[in-house]
Amino acid sequence: MTITSTSRRSVLRGASAAAMGSLMLPLSAQAAARFTISDTDFMLDGQRMQIRCGEMHFARVPREYWQHRLKAIKAMGLNTVCAYLFWNYHEWREGRYDWAGQRDAAEFCKLAQQEGLWVILRPGPYACAEWEMGGLPWWLLKKPGDAFLRTRDANFVQPARRYMKEVGRVLGPQQITHGGPILMVQVENEYGFFGEDLAYMREMKSMLQDAGFDVPLFQCNPTNAVVKSHIDGLFNVVNFGSDPAAGFKMLDQVQKGPRMCGEYYSGWFDTWGAPHRRGSADGAVADIQAMLKANGSFSLYMAHGGTSFGLWGGCDRPFRPDTSSYDYDAPISEAGWTGEKFQAYRDGIKPFLPAGETLPPPPPKNPVIAIKPFALKQSSTVASALPAKGLRVASPQPIEQYDISRGLVSYRVTLPAGPAGTLEAAKVRDLAWVSIDGKQVGTMDTRHRRFSIDLPARSKPATLEILLYTIARVNFGVEIHDRKGLHGPVTLNGQPLENWDIRAIDFDADAALPPLTWKTGRAQGAAFWRGSFDVTQVGDTFLDMSGWGQGIVWVNGRCLGRYWSIGPTQTMYLPGPWIKRGQNEVVVLDLTGPRSARIAGLTAPILDQLHPELDLARPPSKVKPALDGVKPVHEGEFARGAAVQDVTFAQPARGRQFCLESLDAWDGKQYAAVAELSLLGVDGKPLNQSSWTIAYASSEEATKEDGGALNAINGQATDHWHTAYSGKAATAPGSQHPHRLIIDLGAEATVAGLRYTPRQGPEGVTGRIRHYRAYVGSLTTTT
Ligand code: GLA
Repeated sequence: MTITSTSRRSVLRGASAAAMGSLMLPLSAQAAARFTISDTDFMLDGQRMQIRCGEMHFARVPREYWQHRLKAIKAMGLNTVCAYLFWNYHEWREGRYDWAGQRDAAEFCKLAQQEGLWVILRPGPYACAEWEMGGLPWWLLKKPGDAFLRTRDANFVQPARRYMKEVGRVLGPQQITHGGPILMVQVENEYGFFGEDLAYMREMKSMLQDAGFDVPLFQCNPTNAVVKSHIDGLFNVVNFGSDPAAGFKMLDQVQKGPRMCGEYYSGWFDTWGAPHRRGSADGAVADIQAMLKANGSFSLYMAHGGTSFGLWGGCDRPFRPDTSSYDYDAPISEAGWTGEKFQAYRDGIKPFLPAGETLPPPPPKNPVIAIKPFALKQSSTVASALPAKGLRVASPQPIEQYDISRGLVSYRVTLPAGPAGTLEAAKVRDLAWVSIDGKQVGTMDTRHRRFSIDLPARSKPATLEILLYTIARVNFGVEIHDRKGLHGPVTLNGQPLENWDIRAIDFDADAALPPLTWKTGRAQGAAFWRGSFDVTQVGDTFLDMSGWGQGIVWVNGRCLGRYWSIGPTQTMYLPGPWIKRGQNEVVVLDLTGPRSARIAGLTAPILDQLHPELDLARPPSKVKPALDGVKPVHEGEFARGAAVQDVTFAQPARGRQFCLESLDAWDGKQYAAVAELSLLGVDGKPLNQSSWTIAYASSEEATKEDGGALNAINGQATDHWHTAYSGKAATAPGSQHPHRLIIDLGAEATVAGLRYTPRQGPEGVTGRIRHYRAYVGSLTTTT
């Protein structure tokens, strides 16, 4: 494959070249291009180049520190920085583009160039990246449908094209072909995880070309989706966190060209309520060295993760909101520290530098300060902060319909007098506190698909209020069609409640605070809080939020992000440049009320403390498997190894629940692990998983790693369900085979087979299931 950075007018020539999806250019054009892709190498100014790249998102790093982090990336032994653009960050309101200040992407490229780094740009339109809606703007959801995003539907393609033109205007001049540092530009993002319409990929590619991108374009996919997503004339890179040889082999199947890992996972992201993830430097360095030895290239995801400041954090599927810290356990920490892990990467890469290249020392650590505990003595209830005027609607629709982007929404309706009953909404995204005449009667919680609660009897009409809080739109899978708010009909004992009054605090792009009236003293329930701290010296600090419930923090009017005392993150990174000498104002929105309305600034982050006991109450019922006497729909033996396996049942079966039961594992040990489990319909295609929940898992590792059962249905093979192997749980009942994972499909479905993705990693890794049984039906009871 020969692709050059000259122009989209490049001509495709030669039968053999076409067979391998090759692009050949006239000689004159090749001579003009500084960066090209040959059959074996990336070529820069006629020299072979290995791309040693690391990802950093400028939106996740204070602008004042961009240069500091770029210097660290360079000092780690990398020659390129990879950056996503997040469409919604630059066009939060349709047609209004913003490239100023923290959003100045061109300035970021210029700084990279100044620091001697090349840039790989990933402009989308879809990104993923644990970012609100994967980077897509929420207003796309004003259009109906649950399957039009990331397709050729005009409701997606037209706004995407318009945006991409704007990106071309701003960043086109930063390409190497125009004197800038951008070497290559990515088309879409891991489309192979999502769809199969190759015409869509061609459309996305031409969109970038029409926007003026004339450097080589490429696509990235996980190892198992490279082949099915390949289109002629578009270079491929492969994403993985282990087994470079398998990934590179996949690339060889679709193209002749240099091999590159587009995302090598240095760590992993955290979600609220699940253990902190870590990535070992040893494994990563060994894999990087293996890739470099094989003349390969790589990009670390992440070199420096940073922070999802503001309300930009995303949400994993089916619904697991990401923490604000995006430290990622990356070699350059959230606050830009270059510790042991950084050193291990640097030492590992050094022997592979081309002759003559030396590494600059890492930049010094920025000053860090402690802030003595201070009290937030003023408060203002959310009720008093709601606008006086609202909307009147018969039945609530998703908030996008009302042009509300995100925030707090109060829904009020008059309840007639009557007996106790069940209040039920069609859907609630994301959390809601329900009260009658000001007294809280329950919560609704999309994490557990808890959309109904019991209401007490009323002797006279009463006001029902549902206060709803949006956390983040899902950034991965079909669940990106994530419309927020209370979805009607909302019923009481099956009868629709009508005539709702809706009032909202729309936090908009940058978490704008509503006008607030402060009172000294402690407010009850959901409220804003205000206090201040004084410093004589500025520096980075980590605000300890462990005494609070859940909500959002602002310092000097700037939103730091969301916190949630269930952890694992307990602190919020506050960058020194956002603090001033003297007094600094802190505002906190807390939805449940603090246990102690005080905050201190610590000198190190706390990223790994879980407090499940502080979570919202869960439904009290205990679920048990009810498999006795149920006949399996299938029994078999999975193949050894990491490959994805499809199994077809002799007879399709219909039911609401599915159970995978492991009978033993290939390594003979007591554990089971599953990276992904999909179910196949009669057409052989995976069933839509968006309404699935885990009904039951016989055992889950919750301490040493996040072995939660949801990992088996979140569409990502990089993580997995793993039965318990630490603490008491490792010997408790349920810790041995047979292990059972029961999925609730949300509604009855016909299941004709299954697709099993074993835990990924080297040969012999623990937990790969050997013999198993599968069941379909009604498979649980509650006690
Ligand atoms: C995928 C995506 C990235 C990111 C990682 C997980 O590989 O391409 O954007 O979401 O997963 O961090």
